[in-house]
Amino acid sequence: MEDQINILQEEINQYTVQNEEELETYRMRFISRKSVIGDLLTAIKDVAPEQRKETGIKLNQLKNAAQAKFKELISELENQNNSTKKTDIPDLTLPSIPDELGAIHPLTQVRNRITEIFERIGFQVVDGPEIEDDRHNFTALNFPPNHPAREMQDTFFIEKDSVGNRPDMVLRTHTSSVQIRMMEEGKPPFRAIMPGRVFRNEAISARAHCVFHQVEGLYVDRNVSFADLKQTLLHFAKELFGPKTRIRLRPSYFPFTEPSAELDIWWGNETEADKRITKGTGWLEIGGCGMVDPFVLESCGIDAEEFTGFAFGMGIERIAMIKYQIKDLRLFTENDIRFLKQFSQFN
Ligand code: PHE
Repeated sequence: MEDQINILQEEINQYTVQNEEELETYRMRFISRKSVIGDLLTAIKDVAPEQRKETGIKLNQLKNAAQAKFKELISELENQNNSTKKTDIPDLTLPSIPDELGAIHPLTQVRNRITEIFERIGFQVVDGPEIEDDRHNFTALNFPPNHPAREMQDTFFIEKDSVGNRPDMVLRTHTSSVQIRMMEEGKPPFRAIMPGRVFRNEAISARAHCVFHQVEGLYVDRNVSFADLKQTLLHFAKELFGPKTRIRLRPSYFPFTEPSAELDIWWGNETEADKRITKGTGWLEIGGCGMVDPFVLESCGIDAEEFTGFAFGMGIERIAMIKYQIKDLRLFTENDIRFLKQFSQFN
């Protein structure tokens, strides 16, 4: 039996396992009740009595060694599994790196909001070309050729040859040109807004840009009055800036409207900043408006005896600056992520 014990001890010392199955084979052979060691323990009674004590001690040592080795093999196998996990298989339970979401540009957000407000009171949205002819940008809007009113809008003229030799093409200076197109093509009543990009030859500064956005509006029907205009603008201002918003219409001049007015909204005049922003008046101008001049209706083939209308035009940058307290209009076009990120919460 002594020899058997030595052989088994040697076998245990050499033992290695690669996987759970081999570990189980080891357990069956050395640890379980039916193991070889178990058999020897049963057989000890057959050993000669004078030898029994010594053999018993050795057998016990073998049993303990087998158990110690079992623990060793278990932890070895565990380590092996852990290290393969780290190197070969990605840990699918780790949280992923989140994708950065884009934000809708503040000007688009404001335009969408404006569109929504007007659509809800029955205005449709109409689009038109950014490159216009003189008639749609000026003449039909009652800017006679060489009239000084054309100077109100510093115009980008397009070289003849670049537009197939058509004379008098311009980058539209306002979206009023779309109103002309609409009235030429359809029959009243008209109730529409025209959001879009416009161009003016101005030096770029914190308050002015050569490319900016407008929303113009047109309402032509029987019996449209100045009161309708004022009420529409008041409703719009309250929807956009809040129910306490106040507006003011200040007499002004545009060739295509008569009477004409500037639209101001009340900003406040308490703090130093209020005074600076509103030049001490408390009011901020956001656009122009008026009753469509009969000349404009007639030049689009509409009977000005039967129909009247109002029109208005507002700067989208201007409104966004007021709404979000933005001090420099150049920020809108610089694509600075730090600026744009601030608008993701408003999407
Ligand atoms: N078209 C004018 C502008 O660009 C704004 C305006 C539109 C004024 C309609 C009155 C009526 O300045």
